[in-house]
Amino acid sequence: MPKLTSKELTIQSKLLNWYKKNKRILPWRKLDKKKLPNSYYVLVSEFMLQQTTVNTVISRFKDFIKKWPNLKKLSMINENQILQFWSGLGYYARAKNLLNSAKIISLKFNNIVPDNYNDLIDLPGVGDYTAKAILGIGYNKSVMPVDANIKRMLARLYGLNQSINLINKKITSLSKYYASKKQSSNLIQAFMDYGSIICVPRNPKCGICIIARECIANQKKITNIIPKKIKSKKTKMKKYTRAYVIINGSEEILIRRRASKGMLPSMLEVPNDKWVAEKKLLVKDSSISLFQKKFTKCKPIIYSFSHFDLAIDIYFTKERKRKIKNHDWILLNNIAEIGMPTIMKKIVAVAKLN
Ligand code: ADE
Repeated sequence: MPKLTSKELTIQSKLLNWYKKNKRILPWRKLDKKKLPNSYYVLVSEFMLQQTTVNTVISRFKDFIKKWPNLKKLSMINENQILQFWSGLGYYARAKNLLNSAKIISLKFNNIVPDNYNDLIDLPGVGDYTAKAILGIGYNKSVMPVDANIKRMLARLYGLNQSINLINKKITSLSKYYASKKQSSNLIQAFMDYGSIICVPRNPKCGICIIARECIANQKKITNIIPKKIKSKKTKMKKYTRAYVIINGSEEILIRRRASKGMLPSMLEVPNDKWVAEKKLLVKDSSISLFQKKFTKCKPIIYSFSHFDLAIDIYFTKERKRKIKNHDWILLNNIAEIGMPTIMKKIVAVAKLN
């Protein structure tokens, strides 16, 4: 254990004090008998919070816990159920990993989220950060998970403005100074909240910061260059597809389920052509070539995934249900509830304008 100097002790005690008065009330923070958040809640929230903002997660987390209030309940569902729920949150691998982790915890650990690093890190979708977040927040173990907020705060407190690689190494070793023996759960969450309310990425609120005196970046007036701006990436790759919205006389649309591997695994979709890197490589989907009807072209849209933009030409037609056998239909009005991914909802919304 590294020896703490007065700087680290002061920062810890000021942040803990601040947290007592200013903590965000978040549904996954409700304390149980041991005065710690429920470890199942911590597990679920950490999976949801990977790549998604706190504000978006709040209501989805509440819905999730209503449906599957404990780990045992979650471990009994199938993949389609969690994928359907996950609609709109994106990054569907998280949902699959969360469910697989729950199934492993149920089988191997009697429905109790493990409280040691080695068992946690073996779970699918659990990396160093998530393992430490669960240990620290859920079990008050002496660790410090380093998320973007904590990284930025440590970089500023210690005035780290070197290359990202060097900074990352220093932060890993500095974070050990903030693994609290007694107050780990509170200190971790104090850092998270302070980073998202006061020590924000752009224009941090140094004027009201309670640890400004301990902050080297503040003394050197370099808070605004930490974190270092990463040069904007090259333009995103573009892919192309065509989507076909077919509506019958009962206000239903034709849908199908995507493959269980790849993008949007096992999610519902309207028929669409294979996504390709060049427009000229588009090949009409085999199910669509069966239809005789003429399609009307609608306004095209571009949907942004993390790694590429998908340009979608949208086609629309009306057809009688009995003309198209062996296909599934859902009521247009039910789209919101059945867990279609956002991209498909957008396509249908455009076609509906016709
Ligand atoms: N981001 C990741 N984990 C979090 C938590 N427990 N509270 C607030 N923001 C978070």
